Amino acid sequence: MAFCCHHSSLKSLQTTYSAMKNEATEPSSPERFETRAVHTGHDYVAGTGAIIPPVYLTSTFEYGNEGGFDYTRSGNPNFRLLERTLASLESAQHATVFGSGVAAITAVVSTLKSGDLVLAEENIYGCTFRLFAQVFEKFGVKIIYTDLSDPANFELIKTHQPTLVWIESPTNPLLKILDIQAIADAAHQQNSLLLVDNTFASSYLQRPLELGADLSLLSTTKYSNGHSDALGGVVCTNHDEWQDKMIFAQKALGLQPSPFDSWLILRGVKTQSLRMERHSSNALELARFLEQQTSARRVLYPFLESHPQYEIAIRQMRSGSGIVTVDFDWDLEQTLQFVESLRYFPKAESLGGIESLCCHPASMTHAAIPKATREAVGITDSLVRFSVGIENIVDLLDDIRQALAKI
Ligand SMILES: Cc1ncc(COP(=O)(O)O)c(C=O)c1O
Repeated sequence: MAFCCHHSSLKSLQTTYSAMKNEATEPSSPERFETRAVHTGHDYVAGTGAIIPPVYLTSTFEYGNEGGFDYTRSGNPNFRLLERTLASLESAQHATVFGSGVAAITAVVSTLKSGDLVLAEENIYGCTFRLFAQVFEKFGVKIIYTDLSDPANFELIKTHQPTLVWIESPTNPLLKILDIQAIADAAHQQNSLLLVDNTFASSYLQRPLELGADLSLLSTTKYSNGHSDALGGVVCTNHDEWQDKMIFAQKALGLQPSPFDSWLILRGVKTQSLRMERHSSNALELARFLEQQTSARRVLYPFLESHPQYEIAIRQMRSGSGIVTVDFDWDLEQTLQFVESLRYFPKAESLGGIESLCCHPASMTHAAIPKATREAVGITDSLVRFSVGIENIVDLLDDIRQALAKI
């Protein structure tokens, strides 16, 4: 009985399913970011009346269906919806989703072959560094690191003509801002491609493909989802051949996300614009407070006028995002005492969720690196990174003040 209307409902959903195929988005779409975030993908629930799409918890699909689905490792309706939305928000024709940001990085690097060269910014995310060093270098992929906030080093792109130039902006945890447009131009002159890890900025604040990048990668675990309850990654591009490579990696390497995580991330994405406005305004206020009312040695935030690349930041980002890094100029004990006295900033890795967090790189993310090596790149014992949430800024500042008073 339950199956008696199977074929007629399949027919009525035909238009719907066609819209779900992993087809290019229309970059000419006239709607603004906020509207696209809420409405992209809505059309496919036509025929059911559901305002919010269901979670397709199925590993396999009946052969010959209109959506072209066969097995969830190589595609699921929840992936397609999220891909269409993220592509639209990144101003990309294509997006492919993965099970985490690291899975997205793996997908891109897996396309390289022995002898290919990646020229990477030296301040990249630690797990990207680890993946290059401990996995892909074994297969003959070569990596060179340099400081790409210094335009003099663009010469290295000319010297080495790498297959890929790999950057993040802002970087972690020092929040360096790299000039995406200038690096894209330098890369293209050598027929190299530019990948930007856009995780720290988010699609709402910065769109690398509009600035000339070839690939924009995000850990959607962070600001895209925004609620610290799912992991995901995405690679966005306008190059058809790169889209084919990413779809291949999604299924052939088993890097796909779960349908439920994709559903959660799509739900999170709908409020990204609101969240990013609040993250940025709270973070700017916290940065100004730390700079003006404490004796910190350095306060780093892209939209502070004192930031070394402030001019680039205001040109390529809509606002400064939610991360503030500060060097308090204390010893290790004082810094740990401060961090542990905070009420609203639990000590935790990750970032980009609605809740504030704080990270002490010397004892957490960078603990395995010898002190002298860490300090040489600016990661001192008194460096603290705040991921500023969407709470009321008055409460956040009160919390910082009471913890400062304990030192
Ligand atoms: C800049 C950046 N890229 C990639 C990743 C990896 O993402 P995931 O943790 O979702 O694998 C992270 C995680 O912190 C990150 O900060």
